[in-house]
Amino acid sequence: MTRWWAPAALLMLLGAAGCPGFGDKTLAELEGVETATWEADVQPILAAYCWRCHGQTVSNGAPNSLFTYEQAVAQAERILVRTVQQQTMPPSGSKPTDTERAQLEAWVAAGTPRGTPGPEMDAAPMPDMGVEGDAGVEADAGDLPERPTWDGHIAPIVELNCAFAGCHGGAEPEGNLDLTTYAGFDAGGDNGDLRGGGDPANSLLIDRLRARNGWSVMPDGGPMLPEMQIQVFEAWIAAGAPEE
Ligand code: HEC
Repeated sequence: MTRWWAPAALLMLLGAAGCPGFGDKTLAELEGVETATWEADVQPILAAYCWRCHGQTVSNGAPNSLFTYEQAVAQAERILVRTVQQQTMPPSGSKPTDTERAQLEAWVAAGTPRGTPGPEMDAAPMPDMGVEGDAGVEADAGDLPERPTWDGHIAPIVELNCAFAGCHGGAEPEGNLDLTTYAGFDAGGDNGDLRGGGDPANSLLIDRLRARNGWSVMPDGGPMLPEMQIQVFEAWIAAGAPEE
């Protein structure tokens, strides 16, 4: 007779033991993480570790976008499995810390709450981030900030797309170019100055964003930033790349 109950019993045992490696506590309990919301915790984690593949448009073979709240909610259980439990996502590069994994776990456990946008998002007017997937749409000149600044316009884009460990941040930034600070941008990297004397047509930064003059695209591996954002960079370079 088939012991039909064996798999069920095994599942119950595994269930009682909790997640592998965490004993009878959840990771969130171990890390002292009580709550997490999309706005405050989860979006920044995905921006730092996932969007270079699961961004607004997908790249590097990723099957799905994890760019919007709705997309992340739809994949919440898989994020839990792949990033918190198996730790197989991201497949390469820097991995989320234990605390960040605990935040992802707490977010899923709490039913994926959205939270409210932090005050810093309201303080600086953000260029259109093209959340609805309008990458490549020709920008209306009226939408461009008159005088873009590092603090107000460039840093928010750079933080999401470039300035993290494994790319242009962390202990050993790629190409010795550290984009976590304005001073780092100003210093340039192994390939030298990024400003092109204030002419977007001569700027290495714009060469990389537009993948022109023989340079491959940045962010590395694509996708290219939305046209609107690249135009903000160009206007900023032309304005002398002011910090504030
Ligand atoms: C270097 C590119 C890359 C990065 C970075 C990356 N992924 Fe992925 N992801 C992939 C690829 C490729 C696949 C498809 C192959 C696979 O499933 O292993 C995938 C598949 C997935 C899937 C769907 C497959 C499933 O098991 O349901 C989820 C969910 C996922 N990734 C979550 C994440 C999260 C969360 C992060 C960040 C913490 C992340 N990924 C970072 C490339 C990436």
